[in-house]
Amino acid sequence: MKDEPLHQMYLHFQELPWSTRTLYTAALLVLSIGYLFALLYLYESHSGRDGKAGLSVSDVVIAYSGSKDSTRLESALRGPMASMLPTNEANTVISWIHGGLDKGGFGQDIAPIMEKRCLACHDGSNPHIPKMITYDDLVEVAQLDEGADLFTLVRVSHIHLFGLTFIFFITGLIFSHAYVRPVWLKCLIVAFPFVQILLDIFSWYLTKISEPFAYVIVISGGLMGACFAFMWVVSMYQMWFYKPSERFAARAAERRAVG
Ligand code: HEC
Repeated sequence: MKDEPLHQMYLHFQELPWSTRTLYTAALLVLSIGYLFALLYLYESHSGRDGKAGLSVSDVVIAYSGSKDSTRLESALRGPMASMLPTNEANTVISWIHGGLDKGGFGQDIAPIMEKRCLACHDGSNPHIPKMITYDDLVEVAQLDEGADLFTLVRVSHIHLFGLTFIFFITGLIFSHAYVRPVWLKCLIVAFPFVQILLDIFSWYLTKISEPFAYVIVISGGLMGACFAFMWVVSMYQMWFYKPSERFAARAAERRAVG
């Protein structure tokens, strides 16, 4: 396998100019930090939706298809908005929801909590987040949770399709300079994340129809991350630490002699 001829257009990292290697390294470093922040955001926005700490498949189901026994308000109070108020106040609001949204209780217990903890953002000034001033506003967000609405999914889909394509195009292009055999495996690793991007995004919509697609979301996300990590580590290693085989060295010397 070692003697399989190299493609004419193929250059190993070690044959590339310093400036190109520096550019690749800088891009990989910043991309990996971006990836970490994306994971952090994912965790913060999805964990705890099912009432249990941590991130699980049931959190993903609730995020996309909603929950048969929870409302948007309750999911938000247990999940992304949990840090906005002390637990005892969150529990007061949750018991009020479970108690059937009593109108008297709203004025007495709930309105003051909203005023103090929520209205700074939910006063209607931002059209993208629900207004929560009056009793009717709250009844509206306390309807059964149907998960992310279609418009939100379409918006996030196009951002992900463009963004992830850029990330994996850049990472794949850099990784294409690594020496990995067999060649089909290398091609598979380059192509695989693009398949996962599509599977992931289509499963957001499919989870609304059938909950098991939440597993596809989780698995495709995991595989995408694994491909990214693999390409990153192999590229960085071969760029700076790999001892090039003699034929790369010989080829590089030959090019230098000609150029
Ligand atoms: C610092 C600003 C801020 C404060 C304070 C705040 N929120 Fe939010 N809230 C947001 C933003 C931004 C979103 C939209 C986030 C998203 O869609 O992920 C949001 C979304 C929501 C949603 C909708 C979730 C959904 O599924 O669409 C609910 C319900 C909610 N907040 C409840 C509350 C409650 C209750 C409080 C007070 C305890 C509160 N928020 C305090 C900023 C805030």
